[in-house]
Amino acid sequence: MWTAKKLVDAYLRFFKEKGHSILPSSSLVPENDPTVLFTTAGMHPLVPYLLGQPHPQGKRLADNQKCIRTGDIDEIGDSSHLTFFFMLGNWSLGDYFKKEAIEWSFEFLTDKKWLGLDKNRISVTCFEGDSDAPKDKESAAIWEKAGIPKKRIYFFPKEDNWWGPAGKTGPCGPDTEIFFDTGKKACGKDCRPGCGCGKYFEIWNDVFMQYKKTAEGKFEPLAQQNVDTGMGVERTIAMLQDKTTVYETEMFKPIMEKIKEISKAYNEKSARIIADHIRSVCFVLAEGKGIVPSNVEHGYVLRRLIRRAVRHGRLLGIEGIFCKEIAKKVVDIYKEDWSELAENSGLVFKEIEAEEEKFGKVLKQGIKMFEKYFKKAGTINANDAFLLYQSFGFPLEMTVEMAAEKGIEVDKKAFEKEFKKHQELSRKATVGKFKSGLADNSETAVRMHTATHLLHSALRKVLGDHVQQKGSNITPERIRFDFSNPGKVSKEQLAEVEKLVNKAIDAKIEVKREEKSLKEAKKEGALAFFDAKYAPEKVSVYTIGNASKEVCAGPHVKNTSELGHLRIKKEESVSAGVRRIKAVLE
Ligand code: SER
Repeated sequence: MWTAKKLVDAYLRFFKEKGHSILPSSSLVPENDPTVLFTTAGMHPLVPYLLGQPHPQGKRLADNQKCIRTGDIDEIGDSSHLTFFFMLGNWSLGDYFKKEAIEWSFEFLTDKKWLGLDKNRISVTCFEGDSDAPKDKESAAIWEKAGIPKKRIYFFPKEDNWWGPAGKTGPCGPDTEIFFDTGKKACGKDCRPGCGCGKYFEIWNDVFMQYKKTAEGKFEPLAQQNVDTGMGVERTIAMLQDKTTVYETEMFKPIMEKIKEISKAYNEKSARIIADHIRSVCFVLAEGKGIVPSNVEHGYVLRRLIRRAVRHGRLLGIEGIFCKEIAKKVVDIYKEDWSELAENSGLVFKEIEAEEEKFGKVLKQGIKMFEKYFKKAGTINANDAFLLYQSFGFPLEMTVEMAAEKGIEVDKKAFEKEFKKHQELSRKATVGKFKSGLADNSETAVRMHTATHLLHSALRKVLGDHVQQKGSNITPERIRFDFSNPGKVSKEQLAEVEKLVNKAIDAKIEVKREEKSLKEAKKEGALAFFDAKYAPEKVSVYTIGNASKEVCAGPHVKNTSELGHLRIKKEESVSAGVRRIKAVLE
């Protein structure tokens, strides 16, 4: 029988045979990209290479990438949407294009040697064309030649058959999506691929990245034609096992069984929401990047997921602390392949439990208050939502969801106004960021990224070689850098660090990139802090004179003179032995 493990192995083997190098999964939290909070697709960590930077592993790559898509959160509970999932991908960086990509997708899916899926159950969709790009007749013709009849080839507009950019600007292009017919009865005469009824599962997407979307909203041709494909592991394995939902496979079954076991009033949708959300939270926490539930950015996402899971637990009649039990099942299922789950399970359980406890205490009262507001006014307004947030820690989205269950729409804009008035939480930290990510500002991001390297090495010079990067996050407004250090960094030390960085900036040093083996890079003293297991054979090393030498994927500025002036604004603790610096470039 097919298992997820077998599928991943087969996929990577197939593409290795076709000349691809296999890459490890990147982190769920993009370190130097302010366009999104989380890695939403395999393309994300590869953006510099899709834009033309040579990749040390070559022009053909394949991977199994961990992804988080919070934009789909309202869909969770149906048969196939997930906030966290694994995406298999194969990549051509200016190498092969439509013909090979489609033919290989078809071969892998239908050949008996590989997945052996019935080709008569496969439908595909292609881009219908608009004023930015022409109709993708080429892909359709390749499908037809491969054996998909015209009647199962559909043409759709940009909303359906275009992918990217991952943020607001960047590489993108038309795609062709591959759907598998679950065998479920059609929901009506308009039922077709893309229909939400669950008959068709989208399992693979071949994107032809040949454009770059600019800040002005234009689509410019890219110098190189790329292929970015993404196959959802959970969905594909469900199809291979002849299941109609992802929750029936070994990737979820033990989790679902546990939820059923502890429920007093079981309903499938709430159980799915809990299973999905706790799995996502486990994978984010396990990366140990200093992200914990909070009211801002990544932490807010974790908070929202955990609290929503807790509320759905109550709908199932589960009283008391339970999320940790679910998290244990997640760790059990995945720890063998994702060792971070085994290594950091203590942290995962602790954070989930702490957040659940915090929320558990006030949830009952909050729900009571919600009902009271509703009874009194027959509706829930923005002010009620704000009070529920402030007094009971109800994320806005949860109140919105509870109101929707009563057929009421909460005015989110008015809520934000209320927020601003109380200066509790910046607008960005709530609604805006959760769905669409941060505003793009890639040039600033690149400058900040280079400044981060200087900061890292300056910290080591001032505090000692025990300092190691523990996490980095850049937004258009600031640099956030986490590093190991036993205690507080003094004012004098911070001033010294700032001085060192600005000295390197003022010296107008060229930033040099070279490719070499990781061993060679380390021998030369390049900083390289990542799990040896994930280490690629060849890496990029960025050198900034004597100021910094670090293994990194880039991108960086050409010369430090582009950076301006660094100012450290804050130094604080993240967790035991980990400090955080927030800094700006002026
Ligand atoms: N980027 C595309 C997607 O996420 C293909 O990998 O669907």
